Amino acid sequence: MIRTEGLAKEFSSGIGKKSIVAVRGLDLEVRKGEIFGFLGPNGAGKTTTLKMLMGLIYPTSGNAWILGKALGDVDVKNRIGYLPEHPYFYDYLTAREFLDFYGRLFDLTKAERRERIENLILKVGLDRFQDVQLRKFSKGMLQRIGIAQALINDPELVVLDEPMSGLDPIGRKEIRDVILWLRDSGKTVFFSSHILPDVEMLCDRVAIIVKGTLRDIGRLDELLGETVSNVEMVLQGIGEPVVTAIGQRGYRYSTVGDKIAVTVAGDAADDKVEEIVRLAMDSGGKVVSLTPHKKTLEELFVAHVGEEKEVA
Ligand SMILES: Nc1ncnc2c1ncn2[C@@H]1O[C@H](COP(=O)(O)OP(=O)(O)O)[C@@H](O)[C@H]1O
Ligand SMILES: [Mg+2]
Repeated sequence: MIRTEGLAKEFSSGIGKKSIVAVRGLDLEVRKGEIFGFLGPNGAGKTTTLKMLMGLIYPTSGNAWILGKALGDVDVKNRIGYLPEHPYFYDYLTAREFLDFYGRLFDLTKAERRERIENLILKVGLDRFQDVQLRKFSKGMLQRIGIAQALINDPELVVLDEPMSGLDPIGRKEIRDVILWLRDSGKTVFFSSHILPDVEMLCDRVAIIVKGTLRDIGRLDELLGETVSNVEMVLQGIGEPVVTAIGQRGYRYSTVGDKIAVTVAGDAADDKVEEIVRLAMDSGGKVVSLTPHKKTLEELFVAHVGEEKEVA
């Protein structure tokens, strides 16, 4: 659905000033039917990349294809939907009028517009507000009408720039539900975000970009690894000598009442875990819980962003 090869963008900031390389040699591939998350901290080059793909700005070098066509193909625009990072809304239009305006841009007939608008307004949960002017909309409602706008042409590919940013947890959940519905109806969704839990809940594959450079790309489960990164054990009634022994072995632990929580790197089958369980049981204590933790997207993200900061 999207492919880039060495895509790059350099902004010149005036004569005699240093130029800014916003995107460096980006190689990316978004496949049909997937929800693809484009992650990176502020200033990483996400919006710049999306704008190049949408044909709003020109790459300095490199190539990109959308739906198999090179950038600049006008017909492709009929088959994609786009929500900018800071969309502009015509304040005095009602939700329905706003969508009707975009429907006209795509030359939809009156009947088509009426049907699509009705469905979309329902889908994004704004049916009670369809005749309310957008200036009275909350941020979350504007974001939802913005997504409806991006869908008015029934696109195959939906590109959303930070669709969840600035929303409260309920607002984010509503947008997530819309994105899941899109995937279920066979669309491909490519969205940028720096909100990691949302990405973790939604995406099939992700790319992490830091300072214009692609740092990681792949299936979320593969990037995070099926492997467990640490195991947390809660033990009860194990007595002071065993607590001391655990401390002496250098494990991280904390105590609450007669319970102790110990964290051990590795998986549950690790010898260290077995050793601690044995120590606890031998001293007459018991194992209350044993919880394996996988690496989180946040750990992966912080590892990449942190590394880059050190280089800088
Ligand atoms: N029109 C522009 N002129 C000059 N610099 C820009 C322009 N647009 C973006 N940049 C710079 O490019 C970098 C990437 O910005 P952006 O793509 O907006 O990042 P993100 O969307 O990941 O937060 C930033 O350093 C930003 O200041
Ligand atoms: Mg941005």
